[in-house]
Amino acid sequence: MRKYPGYFITLEGGEGCGKTSRIPHLAESLRQKGLDVMTVREPGGTSIGEQIRIVLHDGNNTEMHPRAETLLYQASRAQIVEQLLIPRLNEGYIILCDRFADSTLAYQGFGHQRDIQEIKTLITYATGGLTPDLTILIDLDPEIGAERKRINNSEWNRMDRMPPDFYERVREGYLKMAAEDPIRWVVIDGNKYPLDIHTELLNITEGRLIIAGFIESSLRRIER
Ligand code: TMP
Repeated sequence: MRKYPGYFITLEGGEGCGKTSRIPHLAESLRQKGLDVMTVREPGGTSIGEQIRIVLHDGNNTEMHPRAETLLYQASRAQIVEQLLIPRLNEGYIILCDRFADSTLAYQGFGHQRDIQEIKTLITYATGGLTPDLTILIDLDPEIGAERKRINNSEWNRMDRMPPDFYERVREGYLKMAAEDPIRWVVIDGNKYPLDIHTELLNITEGRLIIAGFIESSLRRIER
């Protein structure tokens, strides 16, 4: 049962999985269907959140403890939830969010091997209980993701400097969460061509938005 008139979609995945470059295209395709769409990213998305992002991703902050790291992500999250996400959801927007609370479970929980229940408690506090209506995981072998980042000369930050087994645990954590809640989560194979990933993302979101009553089904149009 949705709590807000809008619809909250999150995209998740490891480094270099391609979600960040796909989001603007997905947003554009949904806007062409007449929907009000907002795209945001985490950490960040607000002035305060972007300042926290700088601290979190600064490669010089090598001494940052995983608990401090976890709390900083939650501080950025609490701000975006209250300042942006809930107000827009109340206005009926479709929100496409590049990462959300599941990133904390995957990276700080599974990656750093911290207590998952404790982190869930922090997440509930930070989000005030806001949960995505749909989460799409773009699954990719972390080695391939890292190679893509190298080839594309993508931005590297403090979170890109963990040992390889960290990213393996992140991937396994994501797949575990997706398997445990197949109603909220959908998994896409990140090895596919970008255009195929776009088509899949659009089909998944359209399907959900038809069920939620945001888009009219083409079948229903034909019946008339
Ligand atoms: P990105 O914007 O390039 O995806 O970078 C975000 C980085 O921050 C990425 O390495 C994942 C990490 N991250 C966490 O570790 N925990 C979180 O809760 C979030 C939102 C991101």
